[in-house]
Amino acid sequence: MNPLCIAFHSYKGGTGKTTIACNFAALLAQKGNRVGLVDLDIYAPSIQTYFEIEPKKWLNNYLNSSADLNDVMIDGNQFVHEDKLNPNLTNNGGGKLWLGFSNPRSEEILQLETTGTSTAREVLKKLILLKERLLTELRLDYLIIDTSPGIRTWSINALAISDVLLLTLKSGDIDSKGTKRLVDDIYSTFAKHGSRTFLLYNRVAGFCKPPKDFLKGDSSPQTLVGTSSALGGGDLVQHKFNMAQPKLSVELGIKAISSIPCFCDIQFSEREFLTVLNYPDHPFAYYVNELIDGVQTA
Ligand SMILES: Nc1ncnc2c1ncn2[C@@H]1O[C@H](COP(=O)(O)OP(=O)(O)OP(=O)(O)O)[C@@H](O)[C@H]1O
Ligand SMILES: [Mg+2]
Repeated sequence: MNPLCIAFHSYKGGTGKTTIACNFAALLAQKGNRVGLVDLDIYAPSIQTYFEIEPKKWLNNYLNSSADLNDVMIDGNQFVHEDKLNPNLTNNGGGKLWLGFSNPRSEEILQLETTGTSTAREVLKKLILLKERLLTELRLDYLIIDTSPGIRTWSINALAISDVLLLTLKSGDIDSKGTKRLVDDIYSTFAKHGSRTFLLYNRVAGFCKPPKDFLKGDSSPQTLVGTSSALGGGDLVQHKFNMAQPKLSVELGIKAISSIPCFCDIQFSEREFLTVLNYPDHPFAYYVNELIDGVQTA
């Protein structure tokens, strides 16, 4: 299989791009793939909060040519192999995870923003090189990119280098005019050039029950695959039919790839964490797994 570069993007902010991108990357690695996850939301970086590692060098340093890529990509295998909450959950497929964090300091953001607006072609060249080097030097199966919402130089260039574009929408807060413009102006162009574009619905209403049995974390994600009954299949199935999104998908002319419900415990948790690794029996993990299947077969 050729390596795949997958970008999570949205028109509006707060749709769940970072949450899904981090969990998606971690679960892909857990399933035995070589995965790179990079934070190209240079304006409001937040991937680091899911992993809580302090890097010596940031992606910014690579992008402004003050560091080599090898010093920027951080080994994230501790998350894949040493899941303390789930010692039985070991990666036996040789999966690996590398992380590239963007610097949240305002002067660093401003510095990159200036680069981005003054030399858009340079940004694209940097990103093409970033992708090529990551795919070849780390022998990645998947490169996952988190982006800033809306139409901004870094995000559009991130979409330009990606094979699969996931336009993430938050249920109940969909600006269909803005999203339609984004699709017509940007996504359709990339689709014409071979990118695969999908709508990804997130925080779909209707699952606001505390997942009482899912927080034990005592079984592997493999047991989740295809076993919706183990997760209260009735609820999951009901979700799939409860949604009015197909209309929007037709309106926008993009196929929907997945619909992830809104889970109160994730929404109101005090800090971000990797649900798929910490609580592999959580239904959120089931949906991320389903999204992985969707992307792999799309
Ligand atoms: N399926 C879900 N159920 C409940 N809460 C969710 C879900 N997905 C994401 N969230 C929560 O929604 C909030 C916003 O998510 P996130 O930061 O991932 O969005 P984003 O699209 O990356 O935002 P931004 O555009 O600001 O970068 C977070 O508090 C996250 O925990
Ligand atoms: Mg984000």
